[in-house]
Parts: sequence; structure tokens; C-alpha cells
Amino acid sequence: MYNLLKGKRGIITGALDQNSIAWKVAEKAHEEGAEFVLTNAPIAMRMGEINALAEKTGSQIVPADATNVDELTNLFTQSQEILGGKIDFVLHSIGMSVNIRKKIPYTELNYDYYQKGIDVSALSFHKMLAVAKKLDAINEGGSVVALTYMAAQRTYPFYTDMADIKAMLESIARSFGYHYGLEKKVRINTVSQSPTKTTAGAGIKGFGDFYDYANAIAPLGNADAESCADYCITLFSDLTRMVTMQNLFHDGGYSSTGVSDIVMQKMGLEE
Ligand SMILES: NC(=O)c1ccc[n+]([C@@H]2O[C@H](COP(=O)([O-])OP(=O)(O)OC[C@H]3O[C@@H](n4cnc5c(N)ncnc54)[C@H](O)[C@@H]3O)[C@@H](O)[C@H]2O)c1
Repeated sequence: MYNLLKGKRGIITGALDQNSIAWKVAEKAHEEGAEFVLTNAPIAMRMGEINALAEKTGSQIVPADATNVDELTNLFTQSQEILGGKIDFVLHSIGMSVNIRKKIPYTELNYDYYQKGIDVSALSFHKMLAVAKKLDAINEGGSVVALTYMAAQRTYPFYTDMADIKAMLESIARSFGYHYGLEKKVRINTVSQSPTKTTAGAGIKGFGDFYDYANAIAPLGNADAESCADYCITLFSDLTRMVTMQNLFHDGGYSSTGVSDIVMQKMGLEE
């Protein structure tokens, strides 16, 4: 361990179970000396095992539906009280699409579900940042990270409305990053992660085959949740203090690879 987050206070959203990326971030943040509050939607916490994580990391839990500004206001207010000061880092690890869950094709999207997906997975990020800024809850040099996927840049048919929603999420990071950076030196970035075996990931049609495909393309293979957590920790640390408004690929080189030898061999195209 490097004590990268010693003395820092954080808020970590989205730890549903041990497979969640946020779960690994919480474990790593604890190892690196941070103190933080865990949060999730009240309905998810009954399903999940967040209490065990809280115990393991010496954290308290403050439930909040990330679409609800009042609950987010309570989250940031209570977190500062619990942790004894302003917040240094925030992880937004929240994603949900009813259209994906119900396997509705992109060209036939249900618009109520679409709006729900936008609210939960993208607007929640804006709301979180707006609440934090209004309360002046984040310290100068503080770092906010949201998780995203490369379907925001290139088309993945099975990712349906989440592709559009992630594009919005990444745009919010840039737009809010400008204002929050200028006024309070708060940094905002998105991490574009490899396909990862979690509840959200496994809900995507054909995920298993796609996971194998991405793994065969990326020179380093797919990045797992634990390595994603390590990367998030560096972004919360002071070592990346001048990095903001970026969409950062954490994907074993997948996004820069056109085709790989392994995939060529599988296609039977190589002599
Ligand atoms: N798994 C992948 O393949 C993958 C790849 C790239 C990016 N991501 C992103 O990583 C993030 C975390 O997902 P994960 O893969 O760890 O899956 P996960 O299912 O473990 O986490 C998703 C979390 O979102 C929470 N959530 C849903 N609605 C909420 C609400 N209204 N308020 C508060 N929280 C709510 C869930 O309770 C859950 O904890 C998501 O943004 C996801 O899109 C995942």
C-alpha cells in the first residue's frame, strides 16, 4: 500500500455486491488510508451486502436514490458530519437501463424507460455535482470520477440506450469539470472501463461472448474490476492533481486496437 489517500474523505456510490466495481474501489480506498461513506439506492441496499463492506472498511452507510436531489443533499450534508469535514473524492458508479434489462432493441426503445435510464445513469451525476457545489462540500483539489463505457464513442448494438446515456455522462464530466474547476479547483473525469463481470454488466444481451471478444482484442486482455479500482484510486490521489475533464480508457488497450492476431485466427482469415 502507498497511503495515497491518507487523510482523505470520500463518498462511494454503487457497491451492490462483491462483484461491483465500487466494492473494489471501497476496499482499495480503505487500504490506501481513506475514510468514506458508502451509499446506494435504498431499494438496492436490501438486496445487496453493503453492510459487510461497511464493517470491513469501517464506514457508515447513508442511503440515497441518486435521482433525488433532496436525498443527495442529505448524503453530502451527512457525509461531511460523519467524516468531520469537506469531501475529497466521490465515485459515481451508477448505471441502469430498463430497455437493456428487457432486451428492447435500440430502434424500438420505450421512451419512459429511456428517460428513467438517463435520470439514473447520467442526470444523477449532474445532480450530485450540483448539490456538492451548492453546499461547497468538496475540498479544493478534490476529485470526482464516474464510470463509463466506450459505446459512447463507437456503436455496440446491444448497449442500446446506455450508449447515448454514457455519451451524456461523459459530456457532463467535461461541462461541469470546466465550471467546478474554474471556481473550486475540483476535478471531474470519467473512466471508460472494459466489460466487467458485475450485475450491471451481466444484464447486457450477449455479454459473455462480447467479454471474450474484447478480451481477444485487447493486448493486455480485459481490465478487471480490481484494476479499475486501482486506477480510480490514482485519480482520487494528489498524483493526478492536474487531470480533469477527461474520458480515460481503462481497457487493456482495447480502444486503440483495430484488430488482433487472435481475432484474425478465430475468423480464419490468417494464413
Ligand atoms: N460491468 C461492466 O461491464 C461495465 C463496463 C463499463 C462501465 N461500467 C459502469 O460501471 C458502473 C458500475 O456498474 P457495475 O458494473 O459495478 O455494476 P453494479 O450493478 O454492481 O453497480 C451498479 C450500481 O448502480 C446502483 N444504482 C442503480 N440505480 C440507482 C439509483 N437510483 N441511485 C443510486 N444507485 C443506483 C445499483 O444499486 C448498483 O449498486 C456503472 O456506471 C456501469 O455502467 C460497467
